[in-house]
Amino acid sequence: MPKALIAGNWKMNGLAADIAEARSLAEALAANGASCRVALCPPATLIAKMAWSLKGSPVAVGGQDCHSGLSGAHTGDISAEMLADAGASLVIVGHSERRADHGESDAVVCAKAQAAFRAGLEPIICVGETLDQRKAGRALDVVVGQVEGSVPLEAVDHGFALAYEPVWAIGTGLTPTLAEIAEVHAAIRATLRDRLGAAGAAAPILYGGSVKPANAAEILATAEVGGALVGGASLKAADFLQIVRAV
Ligand code: PGA
Repeated sequence: MPKALIAGNWKMNGLAADIAEARSLAEALAANGASCRVALCPPATLIAKMAWSLKGSPVAVGGQDCHSGLSGAHTGDISAEMLADAGASLVIVGHSERRADHGESDAVVCAKAQAAFRAGLEPIICVGETLDQRKAGRALDVVVGQVEGSVPLEAVDHGFALAYEPVWAIGTGLTPTLAEIAEVHAAIRATLRDRLGAAGAAAPILYGGSVKPANAAEILATAEVGGALVGGASLKAADFLQIVRAV
């Protein structure tokens, strides 16, 4: 089994002063070691500063999104190469907030994952159903469709992670039951294995959506859960550290 990945997604939160949280996380992990891989994905404005400050530490730095192109006339966008140049080694693509706020389709997310591979970044490719879709009994269909549309076939040759984040569990304090998480993760694993063979069998499948110190251990012990993508509880080093320690 590859090591689990615990990734923090700061979303649109964090100013230069908050790098101190990342430093204290890194210092705690350097002192006691970690049994999993750990990453923080701050807003783009902090990537270079955080990567510099965490250089040589056990905490990797990631972006929260990238453009699919290499460079060009795309005002406000950031390429995967720019993220790598700033010190990132991972990038989240297809987060449901990007899919909803910026109309990102599976095809767009797939192109972003390809850009990540091109730049040598490990993409964390996000999928997840809405509450209406779950109530209609369509959760598995929706998620499997997103995996098929968003994970490029080149993934056979690259490191990547998948993140299952039910939209209704993000930032709400609600979480699926462990059986529901296991059911979706099993369907994702089967789809990845079908499409990508051994690479699909090995990729970590993270759970995301209201992961906190109180529920991390049981979620992380669930079948086919290979880590977590953590929003709100990643902003404070003390909370995030408890989740890392729950692996
Ligand atoms: P949350 O966010 O942990 O605050 O629910 C998770 C995410 O959106 O990645």
